[in-house]
Order: sequence, then structure tokens, then C-alpha cells
Amino acid sequence: MSEEKKQKLSTDSYKGVRDFYPADMAIQNYIFGVIKKVVESYGYLEYSASILESADLYKAKTGEEIVNEQTYTFTDRGGREVTLRPEMTPTVARMVAKNQKALLFPLRWYSIPNLFRYEQPQRGRLREHWQLNADIFGEKSLHAEVEIISLASSIMRAFGVKDNQFEIRINSRKIINYIFGELFAFPEETRSELAKLIDKKEKMGAAVFKAALKTAAGEKTDKLLTLLNSKNFEEFAKSLGETAGEKAGMDEIKTVIASLEKLGITNVVFDQTLMRGFDYYTGVVFEIFDQNPDNRRSLFGGGRYDDLLEIFGKEKVPAVGFGMGDVTIRDVLETYSLLPSPTSKIKLALCTIDENGIGYAEEVAQELRAQDISVIVNYSDKKVGDQIKSVVRQSIPYVICIGSDEIKSGKLKLKELASGKETELESSNVAMHIKNQK
Ligand code: HAM
Repeated sequence: MSEEKKQKLSTDSYKGVRDFYPADMAIQNYIFGVIKKVVESYGYLEYSASILESADLYKAKTGEEIVNEQTYTFTDRGGREVTLRPEMTPTVARMVAKNQKALLFPLRWYSIPNLFRYEQPQRGRLREHWQLNADIFGEKSLHAEVEIISLASSIMRAFGVKDNQFEIRINSRKIINYIFGELFAFPEETRSELAKLIDKKEKMGAAVFKAALKTAAGEKTDKLLTLLNSKNFEEFAKSLGETAGEKAGMDEIKTVIASLEKLGITNVVFDQTLMRGFDYYTGVVFEIFDQNPDNRRSLFGGGRYDDLLEIFGKEKVPAVGFGMGDVTIRDVLETYSLLPSPTSKIKLALCTIDENGIGYAEEVAQELRAQDISVIVNYSDKKVGDQIKSVVRQSIPYVICIGSDEIKSGKLKLKELASGKETELESSNVAMHIKNQK
């Protein structure tokens, strides 16, 4: 073998993506299980699509940073530019646009795709994450925003997170557009520069932020700062003054907050600095944050995007939705010790004493599997004591040891490991016995 061939390959996964060992997979499945139960209780139907999309889909409208700096794009063997999806919204909009005539609106759809973004991997941000997307298409009233935000809140509650442990921050693109456009008449490039800057405000420190703002906003900095630093909705409204231009956005925020309050959701706050990075939002936008400073990244992000279907040359369809990532919610559940303790999906292990025991155990296992009991057989010649130790380490609740006595008598001793209780049973009664235990 050549020197080159002998070089060992790394066992690390590609930077920023994760391997899911069975213990991680169990957590992932738990998280997805809770999510699915809640979204389905709101009547959302599951859809899916390919990881690969034409790169053009994201060039039309997604947000400059994502397209220019964060997409994984390559040219396929046929010379087409292909992108690993960095978000699901353009895909679902494409699917809805394609079948617009046949679909029965309003649609309530959800999916949990994996997404790829070329980010600097850090706590709460990786290059691959799974993201619940829940969206309503075809509902123009604010009831859609209220439903979507209440769905997000229900998911947090279903995980056992208390209302005082998370905050729902809301703003409106209409207000942002009014301030940047009508009020200050900033040119287009300044607007996106400011939006990015304001998005990073918390991470920058007041003095650095002010200096950066001054470079972008010039003599309008002080007035802009007063607006950005307003403590609450009332103070902000006062600083803004009463004009028709921003009224729609302000009224929408008031209605959404009041409607959510009526539903018992009171951890909603107006946040005029909430920008959301995507170009397609047109109205109310929101994000959910953990109150614990260890988890600074948003858990959910979404809003209204009524014009996105236009990029396909189709009629507009009003749309509201959000994305919620698996990385950040897992951090939160770990922070508050809300993940359930690991349990085995394997119900029963058959320990074996010799080759004959293995043969008989294989037959018993087949019989039990046909009755929906998950069973493994030990094929090793290890001592029974060691076999049992391995069963305990895997948290498998039941064990049966099989040797010549069992083969002769046809009777099996089922041991429940937690209590140490043993029950002698005909093999045909084992499945029923296990099922009858709680
Ligand atoms: P987004 O704010 O980019 O929105 O992502 C939504 C959520 O996905 C974030 O709050 C975070 O939990 C998670 N997330 C995003 N990027 C990463 C990453 N690199 N690593 C780990 N988690 C991440 C969207 O993607 C919109 N398309 C959501 C949407 C759906 N708007 C309307 N409908």
C-alpha cells in the first residue's frame, strides 16, 4: 500500500454538522414528537421536499447575507447551479405557487427539514440544523398572526418551558419601512445596512453601536436612537408621533398583542429593534427568546410575507409562518433540565448459556416480535452475569436467560430488572405478561 493510502481518515464529521448517535437520535425524536403533536392539534398537515433546489430560488428574494455568504452552492454535472436549501420558505412558496389552482386555501402546512448555512459554528448556530416550519397560506386577517404565535407559544409550553422563562418579541415591517423610508428617507443600501446593524445592537455595546449608527445614518442618528431606545410601545409611539404612514403597523401590533392576551398569552413584548434578516416579510414579524442569558440566540423567527409568490409570476397569496430550530430548543431544554430521562426502546434481552440456548432464543425472539415486543438475542459466549450487566447498561427493562433447562421445560423466567421480580411463564405468555405491566 502506498504511503498516501495508509494515512488515516479523520473520524470527525464535516465542520458544523452533527452525527446523531442513538442517544442523540432519541432526543431528536422526542423533540420532533412533541412538536408534531402540537402542530397537528392545530390542524397543520405535513409536507416535504428535496434538500436540493435551483440556486435561482434564493437569488430572487431571501436576504443578501444568506445568499452571498451562507449558501452551499455547486454546479452539477449538467452545468446547473444547485443550492442545499438554507431555509424552507422559498421551497414551500414554490410548492404552493406550482399548485395554486388546485389547492384549497387556507392551507396550514408544516415540515421539519434539515437546512444548511455556511455559518461560523458556535453555541446555538451550526452549519446544519433541523427547523420546524409552520405556515398558513391564504389568510389575510391578523387571526393568522395570532394563530401562528399562539402555536409557537403552545410548543414552548408543551416542552414544559414556563411563560416567564421565554419572551415573544414582535415588530412590524410596516413600521420599519415607514421609519427608514418616509420618515428618514434613507437610500436603499443604507436601509439594509441599518437593519443589519440594529439586528446586532445587543451584541455590540452602546458606544460602538452609536458610532456605527452615526456612520450610516449621519445627522439623523439622534432621532433614530431615541426611537430605538424607547422602553415600550407607548414611549415609542410618542416619539414617533401620530402620522398616517406608520398607523397600520402600529395598530396591527396592538391588535395582535391584545388578541394573544385574551388567549392567555401575556409574554409578548413590542421590540422596535427586531429586524428579521429576510427581504420577503411584509407585516408583523416576531422572534422568541429564552430569558436565560446562556441562550442568546432566537428559538423561533417568523412573520407575514404576502408577496413571495409573486417571484413565480403567480397571484399573491397572503402567508404567515415561522421557523423553529432544533439546536436552540435542545440547548434550552438542557438548561432547564426538561429533557426526559433516557429509556430503551428495546423491551427484552434474551441471554444465552450455550449454542443450543442461542438456537432456542432465536425462535422465542421471532415469536415475540410477531406480537410487537422488541427483543434482542445475545450470541456471545460471555458469562451470563456479564450479559446481564450489558442489558442493565442499555436500560432494557426485561431479561430472560435461556439454556438447556428452559429448552427442556419450555418454561421461561422473565426478570424485571428494576424490581428484580421474576415470573415463570410459558413462552406463549411472555408477550401478554409484558404488555400487561404498566
Ligand atoms: P430564521 O430566523 O433564519 O428564519 O430561522 C428560524 C430559526 O431557526 C431560528 O430562530 C433558529 O432557532 C433556527 N436557526 C436558524 N439558523 C440556524 C443555524 N445556523 N443553526 C441552528 N439553528 C438555526 C427562517 O429561516 C424563516 N424562513 C422562517 C419562516 C418560516 N418565516 C416564515 N415562515
